[in-house]
Parts: sequence; C-alpha cells; structure tokens
Amino acid sequence: MGAGPEEIAHAVARLRAGGVVAFPTETVYGLGADALNPDAVARVFSLKGRPATNPLIVHVCDESMARRVAADGAWTRDAQALARAFWPGPLTIVVARAPGVPGIVTGGGPTVAVRCPDHHVTLALIEGFGGPLVGPSANPSGGVSPTTPDHVHAAFAPEDVLVLDGGACRGGIESTVVSLVGPEPAVLRRGPIGPDEIARVLGRPVASPAPGAAAPGDAPAPSPGMQPRHYAPRTRLILLPGADPGEAFAGRADRVVVLSIDAPAPRPGVTVIPMPRDAPGYAARLYAALREADTLGADLIAVQTPPGRGPLWDAIRDRLARAAEREPGAQLPP
Ligand code: TXA
Ligand code: MG
Repeated sequence: MGAGPEEIAHAVARLRAGGVVAFPTETVYGLGADALNPDAVARVFSLKGRPATNPLIVHVCDESMARRVAADGAWTRDAQALARAFWPGPLTIVVARAPGVPGIVTGGGPTVAVRCPDHHVTLALIEGFGGPLVGPSANPSGGVSPTTPDHVHAAFAPEDVLVLDGGACRGGIESTVVSLVGPEPAVLRRGPIGPDEIARVLGRPVASPAPGAAAPGDAPAPSPGMQPRHYAPRTRLILLPGADPGEAFAGRADRVVVLSIDAPAPRPGVTVIPMPRDAPGYAARLYAALREADTLGADLIAVQTPPGRGPLWDAIRDRLARAAEREPGAQLPP
C-alpha cells in the first residue's frame, strides 16, 4: 500500500539534497531528514517550531545502522536484546551517542534515541538513502501527532515537505522510549511496549513513570516529550470519569464534543464521537478523533477516561493526560 519504488527514489533524492520528507511508520508519521546533516536537521526543527533542547529520534533500518550512531561500546547486550526482541517496532532505545552524530540532533546532549520503525515504505526509504534519518512526529510542536498523510499535508506546504503515502498508521500512539544510559533501564515515555515486557527481555527491573507523570529520576527534562502539556488539540480538553460523560453536560449552554467508548445518549449541544472499546482500536483512532473534535468548533472536548488495563491503555491515558488542561478527575469547569 502507498508509495512505490519511484516515489521512494524521489524521496531519497530530496533527502540527499538536504530536504525534508514525511514518512509513515506503524505509530505516527515522522518528519524525516538526513540525521548526519546539521542543516537538514535544522530545517526540521524550524518547520516544527520545536525547541532546540528537545532531541530527535534517529530512525534506522537495522541494528548495524543503530551501531553507527551509538558511541563505542554503547550498543550493549541490553540494547541488542531489546532490538532483537522488538525491532522493527515501536521501541526507541536511548544510548550514548557516537561523535559523528551532530549535537543538534540530540539537543546538545550526550545520548541518542534510536528506533527501527515497522513500515515497509520507510524501511525501503532508509535503506535507499543508506543512512539514519531524524524523525520527530510530523506535527507542529506541542500539537496532535499525524496518523494519515492528510494530517501532514494540513500542516506543511508541499515545497517544504514531501509526504510519502503509507496509508493510515496501524498503531496510532508514539513509540515507547527506554533509556539504557542510567544506573537502571528506565522508560522515559510510555508507549505500546510496556515496562514489564522490557523487563522480561532484560531480566531485570525497569523504572517507569505513572501515566501522565514526569519521568523517573531528577535529571531536568530527560525526555521533553514527558512535559505535562503535549499532544494537545487547540480546543480545551478535559478528562471525565464515569460511563456517561454526556450527562455531565446536560442543560449547559456551551457546545461540547464527547469522546466516549460508551456511546452516551444524544443531548442538545453535545456531539458524541464514539471510540473503540479495544486498546489497539482506540489507539489507532485517538489522534484522528481529537483532530475531528477540533474542527467542530466546540467550546470544550471532554474525553471519558478509558478504564482498560495493560501497557497500551496506560500509554493512551498518558497521552490523554498530557492533552488535557487538568488532571484526570478534575472538576468540570464552571
Ligand atoms: O513513534 C515515534 O516515536 C514517532 C515516529 C515518527 O517514530 N516519533 C516521535 O518523535 O514521536 P518525537 O520527536 O515526537 O518524540 C521523541 C521523543 C521526545 O519525547 C523526545 O524528548 C525523546 O523522544 N527523545 C529523543 N531523543 C532523546 C534522548 N537522547 N534522550 C531522551 N529522550 C529523547
Ligand atoms: Mg511528537
């Protein structure tokens, strides 16, 4: 599905010229550029409006390319074990960076985040290019990540960004970020692969933040994606517990969009966007649903906090908490 060999060759040429190419992954679309070309990487920062202190993920097509961006000896047995268990897939591994990786990629820091995405179009792109690509989510900084080519087209001009079509993303929630640089492995950003799965592969405990909470350790902002407000639509968003969040808005004058897995009864002034009950379905739908809600011109988006258990539901609640203006369980605004 999506881009074929000709489009991929065209995209490779753009990358070689220092240009920016949006690529599909199994999680969300990424904004790609040559990770070893500081000017190309600077273009990505400026297109996104991303603070220079927030480092980018480097995308590789296999483990040997990952070794090229890691410092000597930094691609440890732990890194190998994780890559072999979860790549290609939604796990980003943070290790000490090789001197050849430009400082702009890593926010000036000594570590690099590496991931091999599970999408045939992008694996072919990286292989054809022959080197690693930076790839932050292809959205203006702080906004909702894109899960379709149209989401990317809506944010960037065609002369700035070539979009490779890989259809709608299967996963819908950004990769898990795990750091191997501290005294113990630590999840910095929750994602589809849970801390328990990582711990099982490593054979030792893995630190992890509570959904929506700051990262473990007291280092200042080890992973800026952990900033409390992130992944947010433009419209105010609140989280609501309970099975019928539509009820909370009965008789109110403001226009509300409710995202709910329970299909609450229709009420005047309340538009319901029904959400899937299963975690993979919910994750794949979430960002598109938030974008739809944003276009409805409502005063407020209210999301029923989904109750499910497991790593993917934890990651979903983490993103919802970051998109929300208030903490889960907060009172309805007056
Ligand atoms: O699924 C994904 O990871 C998507 C697709 C496109 O691969 N990419 C993505 O990139 O979500 P971005 O830039 O939106 O989020 C990258 C996260 C941020 O939270 C960033 O702070 C963190 O990874 N990060 C990047 N480099 C890091 C490093 N060296 N140390 C710690 N955290 C890092
Ligand atoms: Mg992002």
